[in-house]
This record gives sequence, C-alpha cells and structure tokens, in this order.
Amino acid sequence: MALSITLFLLASLLSFQISSSSSSLRKGSSLSVENPQHVLVSPNGMFSAGFLAIGENAYSFAIWFTEPHFHSPNTVTWMANRDQPVNGKGSKLSLTHAGNIVLVDAGFNTAWSSNTASLAPAELHLKDDGNLVLRELQGTILWQSFDFPTDTLVPGQPLTRHTLLVSARSESNHSSGFYKFFFSDDNILRLVYDGPDVSSNYWPNPWQVSWHIGRTLFNSSRIAALNSLGRFRSSDNFTFVTFDYGMVLQRRLKLDSDGNLRVYGRKSAVEKWYVSWKAIRNDCIIHGVCGPNSTCGYDPKSGRTCKCLPGYRLRNHSDWSYGCEPMFDLTCNWNETTFLEMRGVEFYGYDNYYVEVSNYSACENLCLQNCTCQGFQHSYSLRDGLYYRCYTKTKFLNGQRLPRFPGTTYLRIPKSYSLSVKESAIDSVDDHHVCSVQLQRAYIKTLESRVVRVLLWFAAALGAFEMVCIFVVWCFLIRTGQKSNADQQGYHLAATGFRKFSYSELKKATKGFSQEIGRGAGGVVYKGILSDQRHAAIKRLNEAKQGEGEFLAEVSIIGRLNHMNLIEMWGYCAEGKHRLLVYEYMENGSLAQNLSSNTLDWSKRYNIVLGTARVLAYLHEECLEWILHCDIKPQNILLDSNYQPRLADFGLSKLLNRNNPNNPSISMIRGTRGYMAPEWVFNLPITSKVDVYSYGIVVLEMVTGKSPTTSIDDINGEETYDGRLVTWVREKRSNSNTSWVEQIIDPVIGLNYDKSKIEILITVALKCVLEDRDSRPNMSQVVEMLQCHGSDSH
Ligand SMILES: *[C@@H]1O[C@H](CO)[C@@H](O)[C@H](O)[C@H]1NC(C)=O
Ligand SMILES: *[C@@H]1O[C@H](CO)[C@@H](O)[C@H](O)[C@H]1NC(C)=O
Ligand SMILES: *[C@@H]1O[C@H](CO)[C@@H](O)[C@H](O)[C@H]1NC(C)=O
Ligand SMILES: *[C@@H]1O[C@H](CO)[C@@H](O)[C@H](O)[C@H]1NC(C)=O
Ligand SMILES: *[C@@H]1O[C@H](CO)[C@@H](O)[C@H](O)[C@H]1NC(C)=O
Ligand SMILES: *[C@@H]1O[C@H](CO)[C@@H](O)[C@H](O)[C@H]1NC(C)=O
Ligand SMILES: *[C@@H]1O[C@H](CO)[C@@H](O)[C@H](O)[C@H]1NC(C)=O
Ligand SMILES: *[C@@H]1O[C@H](CO)[C@@H](O)[C@H](O)[C@H]1NC(C)=O
Repeated sequence: MALSITLFLLASLLSFQISSSSSSLRKGSSLSVENPQHVLVSPNGMFSAGFLAIGENAYSFAIWFTEPHFHSPNTVTWMANRDQPVNGKGSKLSLTHAGNIVLVDAGFNTAWSSNTASLAPAELHLKDDGNLVLRELQGTILWQSFDFPTDTLVPGQPLTRHTLLVSARSESNHSSGFYKFFFSDDNILRLVYDGPDVSSNYWPNPWQVSWHIGRTLFNSSRIAALNSLGRFRSSDNFTFVTFDYGMVLQRRLKLDSDGNLRVYGRKSAVEKWYVSWKAIRNDCIIHGVCGPNSTCGYDPKSGRTCKCLPGYRLRNHSDWSYGCEPMFDLTCNWNETTFLEMRGVEFYGYDNYYVEVSNYSACENLCLQNCTCQGFQHSYSLRDGLYYRCYTKTKFLNGQRLPRFPGTTYLRIPKSYSLSVKESAIDSVDDHHVCSVQLQRAYIKTLESRVVRVLLWFAAALGAFEMVCIFVVWCFLIRTGQKSNADQQGYHLAATGFRKFSYSELKKATKGFSQEIGRGAGGVVYKGILSDQRHAAIKRLNEAKQGEGEFLAEVSIIGRLNHMNLIEMWGYCAEGKHRLLVYEYMENGSLAQNLSSNTLDWSKRYNIVLGTARVLAYLHEECLEWILHCDIKPQNILLDSNYQPRLADFGLSKLLNRNNPNNPSISMIRGTRGYMAPEWVFNLPITSKVDVYSYGIVVLEMVTGKSPTTSIDDINGEETYDGRLVTWVREKRSNSNTSWVEQIIDPVIGLNYDKSKIEILITVALKCVLEDRDSRPNMSQVVEMLQCHGSDSH
C-alpha cells in the first residue's frame, strides 16, 4: 500500500514536471527567472533552455544539456547574455507580439534581444538538436541560436564565415574571454589569442605554411561542422575524427577558457563527459596562458604550471592571465644593468632585432643600446653547422620552459637587484607552487585509443592492482609526441614516439639478441635496427632479477622526464616473462668505453662534466618527481654524436618524496663499488647526496684517468667503501706544489687544457666526495660553481 502511494506520488511529480515544461513559447508569453521549473525542453528531452544562475544573483538565459541535473553550468551550449547577466528577481525573457525576443531585467532594461520583427503568428521552439529557433508558424525562420554561437558547437551546428567561438573568461566566469576560433581572412580555421594588449594566433602552428599541414587557402566557402558520429570537417580541408568515432553519443565541441579546443562526449545522459579530441597537446603552446612576464612548463601527466620570471611577482593571485610585474625599476643606464641567465627558456615573438651570427657580448651590446630591450635570447643551432642567433626582446610573452631547448634567455635587471634575484632563482625552483595551474582533464589519444580501450577493459577485469600498472602505461601512451624538440613543439599528432613492441619484433631487430653492447643494472643491452631503420639500444631485463614492479618503475620514471642530457626512451615490451626497453642508440657508446679508449680531449670532458651535473640537478630538484639515480658511473653516462652526455639506466633509481626529500625509504644497498657513497655502507639515511658523491668520483676519474676500482683488491668483499682515489687526489692537492695539476691529470689529455678550470673542477669534485654528506654541495650548486668559474663568455 505504502509503496503504491509512493509510486503514485512519484508518477504525479514526473507528470507535473513534464507538463510544466514545453518545447515552445508562444507570442505574448514569457519565461521568468523566479521560477526555476520554467524552462523549454526539446521534444527528445536532451536540451533545456531557461535562466541559469552564473554567479551570486546573476542569471543568464542559456541552453544546456538537460541531464544530469536541471541546472548544470558545465554543459551549457549557448548563452544569450554572457557579458550582461541579469538580476535574480523580476527578470524575464518574452516573445513579444511584434515578433521580438527580449530579455529584460527588473528595471526593464533590455539585456539582450534578437532584434527581429514579424506580425505573423510565431513561436520560440527548442529543437532536438539544441537549436533554439524563432519561427513563423508557416515555417519561415526569423532567428536561431545556431547563428550566434558562444563557445560551443553541437553536432550539426556549422561554424561559418559569419560566426566565431569566443571562450569564457574562466571556468567559473562565463563572460567573453581572450580566445577565439574562426575562419581568418585567408580562409583558414584558426585559434587566436586576443588579449588586452596583443593578439596572436597559435593554431595551426604560425611558423608552418598552411599547405604543409594540409590546409588550403583557396576554398572561400568557410564552413565547418562536427557531425554526430564524431567527424569534423572544414572547408580549408582540416578534418579530424574523435577517438570514439562512430558511436552514437552526445557530443559538443568547446573552445575552453584555457584556449584549447576540445570535443567532449558521453555515452548516455547519466554518464560523465570525457575529452575525445583536443587541438593542442602541449598546453604551453597556447598564447597568453600564463600572462606576460612568466614562463609555462608542461608535463603530460600533471598539465601545465606557470611561474613568474625571477624578480617578478604575480599580479593577481587568482588569475594567471594578468601575468607578473617586476619588483624593480629598470634604469636605462648601462653601468647599472646586468643580465640574469635562464637556460632552456624561450619567449615567442616581440623581437626587436634578430641577428644571424653573433657572440654573446655582441648580443648583449645590442640589448644595452636600446632602453626598450628587456632582455635577449641567445641560442645556437646545430642543424647547418654551429651558429648563434641573437634575438632582443621588448616584451616577455608566451614564455616556455623547454628543458631540451638549446638556447638561453637573458633577463635585464638592475645590478643592485641582481644578487637577491640570483639567489632566489636558484634556491626556489618552485616559488609559486601555490598558484600553479593544473588541468585535470582526461584525454585519450586517437591513435592508441583501441589499445587503451582494450587495456581498460582488461583492468576492470583484473582489478585494482593491474589498474595502477596499466595507468602507468596509459600515461605513457598519452605522452607519445611529447619528446618534441624546440621547433616541432607539437600539437600535430606525432606519429613517432613511444610505443609498445612485440617480443618477436625486437628479436628480429636485434638479430636474435646477437650484438651485446653493454650490461646495466638488471639487464643486458643489445644493438638493434627497428623496422623503420632507426638504430636502437634494446635492454633485455633479467627475468629473475627485475620483477614487473621495477620494470614499470623504470618505464614510468624515464617516461616522465625530459632533459637534453637524458637518454630518450622509444618504447617497451612486456610479453609473458619478457621485459625489454627500447632506447635511442648512442653511437659513441658510454663514457667508460671512451675513457678507456682515450678518445676524449679536454673540452669534450668538460662538456660531459657540465652536462651530467645539469641533468642531475634536474633530476634532484627540477623535474616533477624528484629522483635519485643511485648508480652514477661512467658506464651509465652515454655519449651522443656530439659527445654530449646522456644519462641512462634507471634500474636502481628511487623517487624522492618532494615534501620530505631527505627521507626516502631505501632498504637495499644500491650502486656500484668505487662510486658508492659511504652512507650506503654505514647504513645512514640516503639522500640526493649519494648521487653527488658518485658524481664527484666520476669527475675525479675523468680528470685523472684513474678508475676508482682498478687499484683496489679488497679482502673484505663487496660492500666496502673505499676512498683511495679521493685520498690520492686530496694529498696531491694539499701538498700545494704548484704542479699538482700536472701530477694528477690523465696524460692522455695532452697539454691542451685549461689549468684554472681543472683546479676548479677538482675543488668542486673534492667537495662532492666529502664523507659528511651535509657538507657536500647539492647538484644545482655544483652547476652554479662550474658555470660561474668555468664559462668564458660571462
Ligand atoms: C568575469 O570577467 C569579466 C571580464 O574580465 C569581469 O569584468 C567580471 O568582473 C568577472 N566576473 C566575476 C564574477 O569575476
Ligand atoms: C569547399 O569546401 C566545401 C565544404 O567543405 C566543399 O563542399 C566544396 O566542395 C569545397 N570546394 C572546393 C572547390 O574544393
Ligand atoms: C585535402 O586533404 C587530402 C588528404 O587529407 C588531400 O588528399 C587533398 O589533396 C587535400 N585537398 C586540398 C584541396 O588540399
Ligand atoms: C583578480 O582576478 C579576479 C578574477 O578575474 C578578479 O575578480 C579580481 O578583481 C582580480 N583582483 C585584482 C586585484 O585585480
Ligand atoms: C612586464 O615587465 C615589464 C618590465 O620588464 C613591465 O614594463 C611590464 O609592465 C610588465 N607587464 C605587466 C603586465 O606587468
Ligand atoms: C659608465 O661608467 C663609465 C666609467 O666607468 C663612465 O665613463 C660612463 O659615463 C658611465 N655611463 C653612464 C651612462 O653613466
Ligand atoms: C664578438 O663579435 C663582434 C662582431 O660580431 C666582434 O667585434 C667581437 O670582437 C667579438 N667578441 C669576441 C669576444 O669574440
Ligand atoms: C629601440 O627599439 C625600438 C622598438 O623596436 C625602436 O623603435 C627604436 O628605434 C630603437 N632605438 C634604437 C636607438 O635603436
């Protein structure tokens, strides 16, 4: 009895809702803001139109996807008065007898109107496709919302030469923002940043010629639309399909407030929306995201982070688009300015001068000569032989931190200010972490979508543990195109990059694992030639020694890193018991091989020392997850074709807890005899200083040519800390005979070296190998010491 009463009540409630909302509004009637049930609902129920609360006592007339909740501002597809919200009392949308739709607020001010007129009988009707039309009853359409899109297109709604999408100001502020999506004058569909001071387009890639990316300038019909299956076509020949193409779904294409264009989909009205396509992979390519005077760093896993330039502070703590402002006054006086070096930082545009070939001081002088110059970029290109380029900057816009970018930006600051800025720039890698912007939108890449779907099904079946592992792999698939270099920073879906290999494929590539090129922690490395003719180093992990956990650790760790002195990983194989990793092949082998074959002159050695210090500083302090390598030795430092070091082999590495970097829980002894810090043997807490110690030993070995292990025949066996090489160098140096450098230096180096640099190197290395780990410098201090004293130009 009670049940049937409940059912009856429920049924009557439902019928009341249905009868209270219709799909049409007749002439002379209106919708009122005070009655939230007073909405138009399309005949199929998918869309609703009515008043939507967008702020405190601020309402807009909008169309949205009805489900899941009556008023869900996330799925708004259209808005009449986004820039002029109305009051929550007395506001009304009416269809007048004169055939005009007007939105008036309590004071009878018109906030919006369709500016139409017709004396014939007419109605305002919300159609099944989400189009709100004002039509005369005999059929003529007087006005339709499809002709005035805001930031969203629904399937079937065309973007034409008369329309454009304008992003919202932020996720919570629906008023017009800075990003636009439209056909530009050359008939190409573009994304443009139209900020308060400047405007610039960023998609497609402004430095790529349109026909190279398959766009045509010659079709001026200017029409583009997404269909309900998930295919987008544009008259400039741009086309894409979403990764879930074909399924019948709800979809919407939205220019989001962060300047990226995304297609969202869901399988049914009650499910969550997911991203099925996006225009730009690396969010930092979008202009204006971090505002002026800032830099943007991107990581596929955690999204984008903005930082102010050193010496600048955030202007608005709730909104990065205002950028940063200097905390100093810049004078025009040469004698009072200096330049702060920022490696791997690039700014787009606003070059005052661009000079093809120039040394550092010539570039600096160009900047000093003009008061409008805020700094300059000095970079080199290796593509057609080595040459330098100089760009002086009048503004710092669209800054990006690209660890592999081979150039440096120099920031003009007053000398009086430089000391404090330098310190803060070095000490606080992460100064504005409170304000970092992180995007948490799921995105599954088109190419791998099938794999991913299969993996996800698999995960559901196998439960939570596998889910975690697969997620790691999945993160990987996403980051595929990310190892792009400076000029193909890529949103164009790179066909290259990270992938999964089959065991038979790798067996074939290595000719049955015939050519061994090295042995690392837990595995043997073979040379191989992949089916696309790339030379690869393929590491086959010992089945017994490395379990799945360690395997995924190595895969996920290297996968998230990005530094010019790190080895690049192309893929992996996990089939049955087989676990293999595929890396780029380094033609010059390892540092150990080169040291023993005497191929390294002084300048090569010095570059290796510096590059290795930089990558360790990156691992310890700069990248997203801090990492201890735990096995720094010449065998794990590979050399590329330019004899630049590439750190490899993360088989023993350890993630550091960022909040508590001094206390990783390491129980096992790691590392290699001769290079191991005393902490390992004396069972003291392990910190990043273990890598500093090993690094110091490697530097001593590179200068002296003496391996820390060769002269040792130790009876106590494996886990012994031996400081014989260290003691020997320390004694030679403290005897303060002026010829101590000559006495310790590797005779192979010859006479062509810089004695003062060697003195600095040895001093730094001896600090690195101090037994008290707290007295050792950290790696960024090592980099600093080497750079300050080591480089000649400045
Ligand atoms: C929304 O953004 C506009 C434009 O920047 C601004 O004028 C308005 O005050 C913002 N509204 C809120 C509630 O922050
Ligand atoms: C121009 O684009 C439209 C829409 O995509 C297409 O129908 C038409 O055939 C194109 N015209 C030419 C000359 O390619
Ligand atoms: C459009 O793109 C297709 C391939 O994507 C290409 O074959 C065709 O030539 C292009 N058309 C024009 C007009 O560029
Ligand atoms: C900071 O930005 C928010 C959101 O755009 C705005 O409401 C606020 O007024 C701004 N504050 C300042 C001090 O500019
Ligand atoms: C950016 O910094 C320059 C000085 O380098 C300053 O003149 C400018 O006002 C800053 N921009 C903003 C938006 O604060
Ligand atoms: C800079 O200093 C030099 C001497 O150190 C002086 O001759 C010159 O006038 C100064 N320039 C300016 C612009 O103050
Ligand atoms: C730098 O280049 C300029 C001309 O481009 C030249 O006059 C100057 O001597 C060079 N300086 C050094 C240190 O090589
Ligand atoms: C300094 O740069 C501005 C902006 O590009 C330019 O207009 C001006 O002529 C330059 N001044 C000198 C002295 O080169």
